[in-house]
Amino acid sequence: MSSRGNWGSKVGFILAASGSAVGLGNIWRFPYTTGKNGGAVFVLIYLVAILVVALPVLIAEVALGRFTGKNPVGAFAAVRPGPGGGGPSPSPGRRILKSLMQWKLVGYLGVLTGFMILSYYSVIAGWTVGYFFKAVTGEIQQITTANTEQVYHSFVSNPLLQICLLAFFLFLTVFVVARGVSGGIERFAKILMPVLLGILALLLVRSLTLSNASAGLAFYLKPDFSKFSFPVVVEALGQAFFSMSLGMGTMITYGSYVNKTENLPGSTAWIAFFDTLIAFLAGLIIFPAIFHAGMDPAGGPGLVFKILPVIFAQMPGGLIFGPLFFLLLSIAALTSTISVLEVPVAFAIDELKLNRRKAAWIIGIITLGVGIPSALSENFLGLWNYIWGNLSLSIGALGVAIFVGYVWKTSKALLEITKGSERFRFAGFWILSIKYITPLSIVLILVGIIVLGITF
Ligand code: TRP
Repeated sequence: MSSRGNWGSKVGFILAASGSAVGLGNIWRFPYTTGKNGGAVFVLIYLVAILVVALPVLIAEVALGRFTGKNPVGAFAAVRPGPGGGGPSPSPGRRILKSLMQWKLVGYLGVLTGFMILSYYSVIAGWTVGYFFKAVTGEIQQITTANTEQVYHSFVSNPLLQICLLAFFLFLTVFVVARGVSGGIERFAKILMPVLLGILALLLVRSLTLSNASAGLAFYLKPDFSKFSFPVVVEALGQAFFSMSLGMGTMITYGSYVNKTENLPGSTAWIAFFDTLIAFLAGLIIFPAIFHAGMDPAGGPGLVFKILPVIFAQMPGGLIFGPLFFLLLSIAALTSTISVLEVPVAFAIDELKLNRRKAAWIIGIITLGVGIPSALSENFLGLWNYIWGNLSLSIGALGVAIFVGYVWKTSKALLEITKGSERFRFAGFWILSIKYITPLSIVLILVGIIVLGITF
């Protein structure tokens, strides 16, 4: 165990895992998805999705990771189905071997998905760095409603710049991950997460004191139930899984570094709380600003990159708040890319016996290659998000729920979950969710994604 690394403290794990969860998903994707889906109704369904499905899956992933002490591939392989869990079983041996290989496949899918998500997520993370520089140099002051589309377009279609930004962001990620679990990931999370909260608080005060802020708050917080629809539910569920970093073994991997004496229900509840709080605050910052500037909240993915710069250019203090906002986004993205890279790195350390430094660099360089098409084409990036960010993550989360619910079994999983805590008050509900509610919800998402072509 010690050669793989461990979290140095309980707070360290909570901050690192919250850092993973809190990312572009919270500050970029959550607000535009909320805007696109009619505001408060989406927020309401999202909160239910977090409590009813995402938190139970988070608990399942962390427990599976801590129980096995392994990366996703190793974790699925270590918990073998059938009696005697772990040893070769005589009679139905073939059947067990077969299912064993299949379950390992869910782990492999997670590692592959890690590569792919890292490749396009880092491109968007690179945009946040690019806009941070635009904000710092004051270039953002020249952005208006009339030219914002063109500024954005010439930025994303500058191939050399895009590849440099991608490489820069991957370099930062590799730099941290190569330094290890407690000396790298945990140390940086302990610095970056409080900075992130501080910036968020500043921006919140600025936004809420803008004129016409109340119209934004009404859109965001007063549900209009006529906006309720099936796609809204699908997008809220998908957003909840993505935001909590579920479905590709990130939380299995982070769970594998957790001490046996730690209280899992307590720590995971904190992670879900921070993740939800920060997404909620991001909306609380962005919607008043949008209504202040009289712009359209349903602007889609361009919300943060095309609309906010215009607002910063007009708003009192925008010269300070603009750079702060994009710095916030970059930090949030970094603690997330770290956690995505950590999955293939842990796999390489455990299964391929590579050392951490080498693993981080090699995987970083491969990811740069895989990311170039996304850096050069927004359409390609969208396709990659559909395949890996929507489809593959949903399949992975379904795999985790079924595996923990029916193969590892909830009774055994609960032994792990309650180790280190006196009791788990919601054990009954957790079982209900993992065995029935979660798999059903994911089937709904898959229908939405595959049949209706919903993408989020
Ligand atoms: N949760 C992060 C965000 O909201 C992104 C992320 C990090 C992620 N690790 C993940 C998403 C693993 C899915 C799976 O931006």
